[in-house]
Amino acid sequence: MDSIVVTGNGPLKGKIPIAGAKNACLTLMPATLLSEEPLTLTNTPRLSDIKTMTELLASLGAEVTQLQDGQVLAMSSHDINNHTAHYDIVRKMRASILVLGPMLARDGHAIVSLPGGCAIGARPVDLHLKALEALGAELDLKDGYVHAKAMKGLRGGTIDFPIVSVGATENALMAATLAKGTTVINNAAREPEIVDLATCLRKMGAQIEGDGTSTITIQGVDRLSGATHPVVTDRIELGTYMLAPAICGGEVELLGGRMDLLAAFCEKLDQAGIDVSETQTGLVVRRRDDVIKAVDVVTEPFPGFPTDLQAQMMALLCTADGTSVLEEKIFENRFMHAPELIRMGARIDVHGGTARVTGVKQLKGAPVMATDLRASVSLILAGLAAQGETVVSRVYHLDRGYEHVVRKLEGVGARIERIKDK
Ligand code: UD1
Repeated sequence: MDSIVVTGNGPLKGKIPIAGAKNACLTLMPATLLSEEPLTLTNTPRLSDIKTMTELLASLGAEVTQLQDGQVLAMSSHDINNHTAHYDIVRKMRASILVLGPMLARDGHAIVSLPGGCAIGARPVDLHLKALEALGAELDLKDGYVHAKAMKGLRGGTIDFPIVSVGATENALMAATLAKGTTVINNAAREPEIVDLATCLRKMGAQIEGDGTSTITIQGVDRLSGATHPVVTDRIELGTYMLAPAICGGEVELLGGRMDLLAAFCEKLDQAGIDVSETQTGLVVRRRDDVIKAVDVVTEPFPGFPTDLQAQMMALLCTADGTSVLEEKIFENRFMHAPELIRMGARIDVHGGTARVTGVKQLKGAPVMATDLRASVSLILAGLAAQGETVVSRVYHLDRGYEHVVRKLEGVGARIERIKDK
């Protein structure tokens, strides 16, 4: 298994290009299953999760062609000849469940493996299933698979989500585009990735209103056509790299960055003493002075502070002046980076869903282990701030969500290297 070696750094300077959003792409790709005509995505990120979704769609009979060095995906679901998403692929990535709604909506049947356990908590899919039932699907759970049927097609209905779920909103939204009649999704997720999906579906001919708010209304149509759509900027990659100059000092421009994608996060950076300003081409980040101030963070659904930036924010707060309290409200067991940061000299107390981080003057390099995608990048950020060398192992997690992480950080002056496993 490869590892990444980071050596403590001085100020960073330069520009980092931000890719298209992994999480948007992982829901836009299954949208191809809704139509017999081609769907082309541009600004697609080059990540192992995208390869896994490509493999899954191909197993169903879709054609997915990578163009322009993987930055364009041309897809066609003209000949779907298999309606079973097998455990072998689904177990690799939870977002696989997003093929269920589209297949069911278009062809009236689908069998999809349940995703199973996950390192950051139980993460069930009950809300996805209840939403599809509200649209008339008949579901049967057998041997770890969901068998879904709607032989006369789905029909519009009211979906009341008890809690906000990004994935369940996406599955419901896609399924409702081809259901007969009107669907109302209450307590819908408002993430930019949902708006991006709705925008693409509208280009395909769907009738959707209210995306970006808590109530989405969909008027079902008989068929959807093809479209070409650029994937929205990855706000999590953006926030991650914004933290690099925040941690090391210097000045870095994040190309393609937009403040509206990360308003709550930018507010916390401001409170910590980090300046963020908009330019014609992106966002510029620099520290206001030498000291990082402690800030409290609570993760929430959009527009709140994203859970996917909690680990990286913790890396920043490890060297802040004072004690910060981080509360994780979306996922249980999402502090697995804390023991690794402690190995680097951080002072962190975790109690249930709350972590108290008391800043230390200086982190120290250490061998550490990546436990999930966002945790692994938080260790790299911490390594940039540490004295000496940090070796992050199990970096395959990183490849799921960050393209060219070494190249991007090297480009702004970081001392970072990937060591290939012999
Ligand atoms: C998506 C993102 C993930 C992000 C998360 C929260 C993708 C591919 N992944 O994940 O990076 O961390 O949003 O912003 O877009 N829940 C249920 N039942 C369900 C579904 C969810 O109880 O059927 C719970 C979850 O356990 C969690 C909460 O709802 O506590 C929110 O999860 P959800 O928004 O669904 O996350 P994902 O869509 O899996």
